[in-house]
Amino acid sequence: MKDIVLSGIRPTGNLHLGNYYGAVRSFVKMQNEMNCYFFIADWHSLTTHPTPENIQQSARTILAEYLACGLDPDKATIYIQSDVPETIELYLYFNMNTYIGELGRVTTFKEKARQQPDNVNAGLFTYPTLMAADILQHRAKWVPVGKDQEQNMEMARKCARRFNNIYKTEFFPEPQNFYFGGEAVKVPGLDGSGKMGKSDGNCIYLYEDEKVVRKKVMRAVTDNGPQAPNSEKPEVIQNLFTLMHIVSDEETYKYFDEKWNDCTLRYGDMKKQLAEDMVRTLNPIRERIEEYKGNTELLDRIARQGAEKARESASTTLREVRKIIGFKVY
Ligand code: TRP
Repeated sequence: MKDIVLSGIRPTGNLHLGNYYGAVRSFVKMQNEMNCYFFIADWHSLTTHPTPENIQQSARTILAEYLACGLDPDKATIYIQSDVPETIELYLYFNMNTYIGELGRVTTFKEKARQQPDNVNAGLFTYPTLMAADILQHRAKWVPVGKDQEQNMEMARKCARRFNNIYKTEFFPEPQNFYFGGEAVKVPGLDGSGKMGKSDGNCIYLYEDEKVVRKKVMRAVTDNGPQAPNSEKPEVIQNLFTLMHIVSDEETYKYFDEKWNDCTLRYGDMKKQLAEDMVRTLNPIRERIEEYKGNTELLDRIARQGAEKARESASTTLREVRKIIGFKVY
């Protein structure tokens, strides 16, 4: 039996290069080796955005982008959270065994409560139990998450453990954080500040066309140029080189590295090359995004197929859960 992996995707925001090299490319590999579930967490978005603009269209866009990156509905189960009503029943059981004290201590809850003082709703409060239901309805063992999700993962383990204790069973595995090894790359932003993805100007989206990509790269923050031979690169310049390392070939990288070292580097030349290589990397993905986005019927068919597989797995779990607690099973 292959290990079960599950990853939830926020339906807000488009994919950028940082997402691609930081996680999505790893998902594409993982789907060959593990039993993967990838889903778009549209219910969760209601905790902060109760009246979404066009939630079905947003889900389709995200789906199109992930498929364009190589997620394969024949290998992984790719679905939309709100297409799997079984999740809610498990959410309800977990809510019965989770204490308001522990939910109140979750930092993301406290932060959101501060940000939206007029809408500190019960869904926001129970965000971690819905997330636990997402994971445990498939009895997933691994969940790839960032640092910001560790407390939610701790709550998911607590839900599993407590259920097992209360009902004297070993039904739920405790899901573990999955860390991508060396293959996950931290992509720097274009504004000189660390990570890609904090703002528009700092970020290259996968859907963006050549012109925009070139313009953004040419505008990337630099400094006055190398001052002494073989000096250490300041962060803003190191960022450019890191980006080049990601999208260009080794020879190109070395060429510009040598120019830095002998103080003949012109940032304009380097950026032109970087833009070229970025466009070459992104073009095929962007074209596939457009193809998928233009085919709503196909996207909906893929989502339906994913929902069927997810519901099958979830209803198997729920049948067991109902039996364990003592409810009727049909
Ligand atoms: N909370 C996650 C995030 O903000 C999204 C998410 C919802 C999730 N349910 C999940 C992630 C289940 C992993 C597993 O990114």
